[in-house]
This record gives sequence, C-alpha cells and structure tokens, in this order.
Amino acid sequence: MSLSRISVTGVRNLHPVTLAPSPRINILFGDNGSGKTSLLEAIHLLGLARSFRSVRLNPVISHEQPACTVFGQVELPDEHSRALGISRDRSGEVRIRIDGQSVRSAAELADTLPLQLINPDSFRLLEGAPRLRRQFLDWGVFHVEHRFLGAWQRLQQALRQRNSWLRHGTLDGASEAAWSRELALASDEIDGYRRAYIQALKPAFERTLEALLEVDGLQLSYYRGWDKERSLSEVLAASLERDRALGHTQSGPQRADLRLRVGSHNAAEVLSRGQQKLVVCALRIAQGHLVSEAKRGQCIYLVDDLPSELDEQHRLALCRLLEQLDCQVFITCVDSTVLQEGWCEQTPVSMFHVEHGHISPVHGPSGVKA
Ligand SMILES: Nc1ncnc2c1ncn2[C@@H]1O[C@H](COP(=O)(O)OP(=O)(O)OP(=O)(O)O)[C@@H](O)[C@H]1O
Ligand SMILES: [Mg+2]
Repeated sequence: MSLSRISVTGVRNLHPVTLAPSPRINILFGDNGSGKTSLLEAIHLLGLARSFRSVRLNPVISHEQPACTVFGQVELPDEHSRALGISRDRSGEVRIRIDGQSVRSAAELADTLPLQLINPDSFRLLEGAPRLRRQFLDWGVFHVEHRFLGAWQRLQQALRQRNSWLRHGTLDGASEAAWSRELALASDEIDGYRRAYIQALKPAFERTLEALLEVDGLQLSYYRGWDKERSLSEVLAASLERDRALGHTQSGPQRADLRLRVGSHNAAEVLSRGQQKLVVCALRIAQGHLVSEAKRGQCIYLVDDLPSELDEQHRLALCRLLEQLDCQVFITCVDSTVLQEGWCEQTPVSMFHVEHGHISPVHGPSGVKA
C-alpha cells in the first residue's frame, strides 16, 4: 500500500500543502528547523492518531491555528483506495474519518496504514524499558494475528480486576480465582501468538541484519513474562502474598520482553550508536516483511534523518534494503547529495525540498528523477 496523496494543514510550521508522493522512495531535504520531521509527524498522526514527538497533541498544532488536519489517499494492494482523515482541535477533540465515515477507534487507522518509524530516538528500543519492546512486538502480532486484539483486551480487563482486588481486597475468594483463571487463559493465548510471531521474526531479522552489519553472536530471544517451567496459574498462586504486598500482579504477559544480547551482554551496553541504529533498522525491516506477507500490503516506512550515525557503506546498505522492501518510504535528511546516488534506475525516487515550512517537489537535473 502507499499514500498517493497527502494534505496537511495546521501541523507545526508547515504551510498547508498537498503532495503526490512516489509509491516508492521519497526524500525530504532541507535545513534544520525547516519542517521535514513535521511532515513525518503528520503521516504518523494519520496512521496512529498520535505523534512520536510529544505525548500531547496540542504542541503539534501550528501556533495561531485552531486545529491540525491530515488527509491521505491510501492505495491498497487490491487496487482499491481508501480516504483517511484525522483532525484534532485545541480542545482535544479528535475526528477520524475513513471513506467519509466517522470512526471512533484509532486501531482502524493503524489497520489501514501500518507505519514503521525509524528515527534518532530508535535506539531506545534497545536500551529503553521493556514496555517499548513489548509495543514493538505487539504491533507486529496485531497486524499478523487478528485474534490478538481481543485476547489483549481480555487480559487488560482481568489484570485491572485482579490488581484492584490486590490493592483493596474488594473481591471474594471465588471471584479472585475466576479473574486469575481468566488472566491465565488470556495470557496463554497472548503468549502463543507472540511466540509464533517471534519464530517467524527471528530468521527474518537475522537475514536482514546480515545484509546490514557484521556482529558476532547477536541473539534475539523472547521472555514471556513468567517462569518457563510453570503455568501462570501456578505462578500466580505462589506469588499471591507478594502480589498483595506490592498491590499488583508481578508475573504475566504484561512483563514480557524481547532480549537482544551479544554473547553474555545486553546489546545496548556493547554496541556503538551506529550499530544500534542498524540493529533497530533490521528489526523494523524484518517486521515490515512479516506484516506485508500476512496482509499482502506493505508498511510505509518513515525514516527520519537516515544518514545520521551511519558511514557511507552502512548508509548505502540501509538504502538498498529499504529499496528491496518494495514499499513506500519517506526519508528525511539535511544534505540531499548523500542520498542522490545508489538507487536502481527503475526505482521511482521523488525529492522534496523543505524550506521554512514550504514543501516543493524538486524536478530537474538533481541526478534523481522527480
Ligand atoms: N506548534 C508549532 N507551530 C509552529 N511552528 C512550530 C510548532 N512546533 C514547532 N515548530 C517549529 O517547526 C519547525 C520545524 O521543525 P522540524 O522538527 O520539523 O524541523 P526539521 O526540518 O526536521 O529540522 P532538523 O533538521 O533539525 O531535524 C521548527 O523550527 C520548530 O520551531
Ligand atoms: Mg528533524
């Protein structure tokens, strides 16, 4: 799938703009503060109803504008297209429309427009809290396994009930047992989906990484959130007093993690910043492969500041992989010359110059087709 049109109004410093991007490679270049990341943020808003830069959406709305609005025409693999729109005003009201119909859940946007973001914060996937890696994992599982969302919602409800009982003792013993049973059932289901996904992700990740980087002994493994020798019911029963003292459930899929180790070390502790960036790229590209196999439609990649941290050889290797993905990619950079070379003759590459919030397509003798 790809965005054939994007219209943006009221996002950061961007002047209202309508773009017709290439279905493949799009390069946005311009000076610091010109608005490149803001365009990626607008696309992210359209796919996920949230920003990747700020938790609140008010800072995204242009100063002196009442709202920000993004429209996109998405071309689907079955040759149909779909019109997505999102608008958010200063009072916090969010309106989402798909083909003219109001939609309440952002999950429908995410389902239509699967996005993968690679930006200078991406190394946090390795060194940050397990929650980030669970989000990464669950994004993939959500897109390849449609039963995942229901199981995840049941898990959240059972966890809320059990935790509330642990804190306030407001459930009787029979109700506690029932919620623990529900918790264990939903947990086993989620663990099964995650495990199946990891089994497919691992070889895809290893293949992708090999094309990007040489690191000996890098291992990806999955921790399900509780002792692998015992069932969750056993673990919950054994840890009841401790859970009660702490006021929440210690074990379960809400504690799952992906572990990346080089030998006996945490990858984040031994890899350089550039190597970490490439490992994260390999994870995200591998995930893109799996999602596109499952949905027959590709993800759209947003790669903010692609050249940063990378030497020429690794930059070219990453571009080659993104190109081989055969999907739509939006890349930002300050200096366009470093990304002009290296694309295949047949790959449609469009370049856009971003200047003080104005975005204009670049035609002409840049060495790259407009
Ligand atoms: N709500 C807002 N309204 C208007 N302008 C804003 C708003 N929020 C941020 N800005 C400005 O928008 C500009 C664009 O920032 P953006 O991060 O998109 O630039 P960039 O081209 O990605 O720069 P860099 O190369 O430094 O990453 C900045 O100058 C910033 O000060
Ligand atoms: Mg930027």
